[in-house]
Amino acid sequence: MKRIGIITRDCGGVNAAIRAVVRTASGRGLEVLGVMRGYEGLIHGDFVPLDRRSVSGIINLGGTILKSARSDGFFTDEGQQMALAAVRAKGIEGLIVIGGNGSLAGAHLLADRYGVPVVGVPATIDNDVNGVDLSIGADTAVNVALDAVDKIRDTATSLERIFVVEVMGRSCGYLAMQVALAGGCEEVLIPERAFDMTAISNEIRAGNAQGKASWILIVAEGTAKAEDVAAAISLNTGLETRIAVLGHIQRGGRPTAVDRLMAAKLGHRAVLTLAEGGSDVCVNLKDNKPVLIPLETAIQPKTTETGADYDLLKVLS
Ligand code: F6P
Repeated sequence: MKRIGIITRDCGGVNAAIRAVVRTASGRGLEVLGVMRGYEGLIHGDFVPLDRRSVSGIINLGGTILKSARSDGFFTDEGQQMALAAVRAKGIEGLIVIGGNGSLAGAHLLADRYGVPVVGVPATIDNDVNGVDLSIGADTAVNVALDAVDKIRDTATSLERIFVVEVMGRSCGYLAMQVALAGGCEEVLIPERAFDMTAISNEIRAGNAQGKASWILIVAEGTAKAEDVAAAISLNTGLETRIAVLGHIQRGGRPTAVDRLMAAKLGHRAVLTLAEGGSDVCVNLKDNKPVLIPLETAIQPKTTETGADYDLLKVLS
């Protein structure tokens, strides 16, 4: 193997993973081509050469230096043929795909249907890669959202208000649950658990009657809209509410040490795996040791047991 390609999505730690891939590859005499704008760039043959120097000074940067885009075209037969042609034309013998569920589904398709050697690296703020406890980017997103919630708490406490804060996560409640627990929030609404607005409102009303004046409720975007939850609480309790939708600030920001360390280890391991002939697998860490998960498994819906964390949140709030 002489030349590999690297495709990315954006979240905290992805640049650190690019750096790890490029420097590991160059140490083994492999050339690396960066694919611009994810699968869109693969279709259109938009590649940039990456060497040791071109990944200097990026370990602390959020986003991805390779830019990112959603690509509908890649999920058509025509798009896949264009991608294959571009890969062959450039002499790319293997690909490393750094991203979440959608990116890894594309990686599996390339490996399984077209026989392209591909190794995946889990990186998503949603932390929804099946079989992976923690994806690159999730820790940074939790910390960014937590910082916002801490600031909102200052106002919630001072003005004795109820805040409903909506966080990202697609159909996974990981981000919401971590932020709610770490932020000392009173309630969390996640896709994995049914919720009852009347019961939540009754609890707030009863607490308010006993002198509890401020609440922070975290809502995962895959569950409900913050404005609907806030409106229901106001209607049921007669108390004033405010909302905050954190949105894309959660995907950006300086990557945490946890994400940089995972990026270093997983990026390094991905190159070794590809060079040793591995394909259609996703690298992962278990007990701080590298393990491989078949991509077919990694892209299945992830089920997470949330009962214990939820119970703890209710005990502590
Ligand atoms: O998958 C990451 C994520 O940030 C989700 O949490 C969110 O639902 C989605 O991407 C937003 O996508 P876009 O940036 O395309 O609006």
